[in-house]
Amino acid sequence: MYQIAVLPGDGIGPEIIAQAVRILKSVGQKYHREFKFNEALVGGAACDATGHPLPGETLELCRNSDAVLLGAVGGPRWDKLPVHLRPEAGGLLSLRKELGLYVNLRPVKVFPALAEASPLKPEVVTGVDLLVVRELTGGLYFGKKYRESLPGGGIRAVDTLEYTTAEIERIARFAFEQAGRRRQKVTSVDKANILESSRHWREVVTAAGREYPEIELEHMYVDNCAMQLVKNPRQFDVLVTENLFGDILSDQASVLAGSLGMLPSASLGGSTGLYEPAHGSAPDLAGRQTANPIAAVLSGAMLLRYSLDLKDEADCIERAVARVLDLGARTADLAEEGKAPVNTIQMSDRIIEQIARES
Ligand code: IPM
Ligand code: MG
Repeated sequence: MYQIAVLPGDGIGPEIIAQAVRILKSVGQKYHREFKFNEALVGGAACDATGHPLPGETLELCRNSDAVLLGAVGGPRWDKLPVHLRPEAGGLLSLRKELGLYVNLRPVKVFPALAEASPLKPEVVTGVDLLVVRELTGGLYFGKKYRESLPGGGIRAVDTLEYTTAEIERIARFAFEQAGRRRQKVTSVDKANILESSRHWREVVTAAGREYPEIELEHMYVDNCAMQLVKNPRQFDVLVTENLFGDILSDQASVLAGSLGMLPSASLGGSTGLYEPAHGSAPDLAGRQTANPIAAVLSGAMLLRYSLDLKDEADCIERAVARVLDLGARTADLAEEGKAPVNTIQMSDRIIEQIARES
């Protein structure tokens, strides 16, 4: 029996997570696995109910689970709260930090059926299969931040970007290990022509790379990488980078796959893995059942693969998603001109049908 903590969160979080859970149940049934789903509050929903975006109970449940499946947090309703009570900083970032999740894996794989759905040319995106390895508990997100009043009026607002050798080493090793299971190439992304933390990053990644002589290592400035991602994305296998660069580049890379609604993620490195779609809470879409559930569903597949070691079950979900896309189902974010989109529930129904058919 596997214990899975389910944290739907805010905005479209609850509706897409409900579908991811249905799909995990259906694959569990097929393979005779017993999943126990235990729901808890996080983000704005937790703030409203308990006064805090990461209640102690939720953290306890996550720590005692085999894996955590999370929807999304945040929304305009909570934007005025003090930083430590906001869904993003007080909820999601605290959860990542508390669970020690220093790696965020964001695979960007272009399903053949969706090559036409990307705003980029099909010949550019066809065959793209890359993995963003984003550092998740350091950098600008967690560095000292403050404001101070200036004598002549106005304020100075400060964020700091720091990385220790140990923080860089462990994420670099993770990236090299991943590349060893893929196409043996790591691109480390930094801004070493300007930032001291990036010069350190480059030195430490280079040194770690010597432990992996079979893996090709290249370094790329982040501005160039942003350009290369849309110009020639097939050159990339594994991209490893600091927290904020990874946040930005992964949103950008998601467009290769057709939509941000396609991009799953796994946060690893601690005792319990956390799985969440890379998109946000999309408050404008919330409650309408129009959001694409696939990022959440594929996050569920990553959960099976990485935390529960259920590879066949994960493959089954991924194949079912590919098949449903081949058969033409599209949610609004991917919809083709003149064709009616399916809604969140209909997309999931089709995936469940395919799972039943998979051999
Ligand atoms: C993401 C999101 C989060 C981040 C936000 C919601 C705090 O954008 O997971 O990429 O910036 O890490
Ligand atoms: Mg982001």
